[in-house]
Amino acid sequence: MEYWSLEQSKLQKGRPLPLAGRSALVTGGGGAIACGIGRKLLAAGAKVFLTDIDNKRLDKVCELLAREFDPAQISGITMDVTDSASVHNGLQEIILSCGGLDILVPNAGMAHVATLADLDESTFRKVLDVNLLGVFQVIKAAIPIFKRQARSGHIAAQIIINSSKNVFAPGAAFGAYSASKAGAHQLGKIAALELAEIGARVNMINADGIFDDHCISSGLWDVVGPDRMRSRNLDPEGLKEYYRNRNLLKTEVLADHVGNGVVFFASGLTPTTGATLPIDGGVASAFPR
Ligand SMILES: NC(=O)c1ccc[n+]([C@@H]2O[C@H](COP(=O)([O-])OP(=O)(O)OC[C@H]3O[C@@H](n4cnc5c(N)ncnc54)[C@H](O)[C@@H]3O)[C@@H](O)[C@H]2O)c1
Repeated sequence: MEYWSLEQSKLQKGRPLPLAGRSALVTGGGGAIACGIGRKLLAAGAKVFLTDIDNKRLDKVCELLAREFDPAQISGITMDVTDSASVHNGLQEIILSCGGLDILVPNAGMAHVATLADLDESTFRKVLDVNLLGVFQVIKAAIPIFKRQARSGHIAAQIIINSSKNVFAPGAAFGAYSASKAGAHQLGKIAALELAEIGARVNMINADGIFDDHCISSGLWDVVGPDRMRSRNLDPEGLKEYYRNRNLLKTEVLADHVGNGVVFFASGLTPTTGATLPIDGGVASAFPR
């Protein structure tokens, strides 16, 4: 018995990591959830490309992850998901650097709090641009790559969209965010229909409130958190507790949990496409239907 831990580590040693040799692109890579997704993909053996429009945030996440994992497995690339040329260039850089792309995680996003009466057109367009058009741009740009790879017998591509609990359970004063995320979610289902012929899988993750990942706070929540609470007539100080207490398991949802969901789908353990995985501690109003 006293050698049991040594025995266990010996048994684990020879076991290949589930995503060894795969490459992954995570957009919005300078964000809190991207940090958790990156961490779990790296732990599963993938090479990870984090892309973001904000280089400062991107560098911080890359530096944090490089303290935990082999820096050679992590790359940061500037990319604006609303700009097709920028998306194309980013993908080219990835292909030139490692020859292909196996896992795509459209994750870049922004939020805005306003009732429909107060929502101005330009802000609505901006949120749609990032959250909906941005998802479309990266999926569209990756399709020719995935098709080429499929023709040469490469392992099936995996797209995992970081969607939201909000898609099934929208909230007042959050119309721009809810509508844009619902649109991106629907695009994911369309991509599942269209890409099944090449074996590619497209799935969605619906998380509820996540406020930070260790040292990286959610930029999105930093902007909308206080207003979100005020729109419910609640004290902004109680944000985390409010979210923890509203789920069935009374648990805090973490960026790492989303990362675990991404690795589950990316590993292709089940023949699943077009599906939604809630990572929300159980929110009955947001049960997928
Ligand atoms: N935090 C939550 O509670 C929560 C819950 C469910 C879903 N989500 C979704 O998860 C994703 C990430 O959220 P987060 O909390 O990590 O937010 P975050 O603000 O920390 O990260 C989002 C990142 O997207 C980047 N970004 C914004 N516009 C961009 C653009 N045009 N091109 C490229 N990058 C751009 C930002 O610079 C930022 O680094 C979003 O899509 C969000 O809708 C978040």
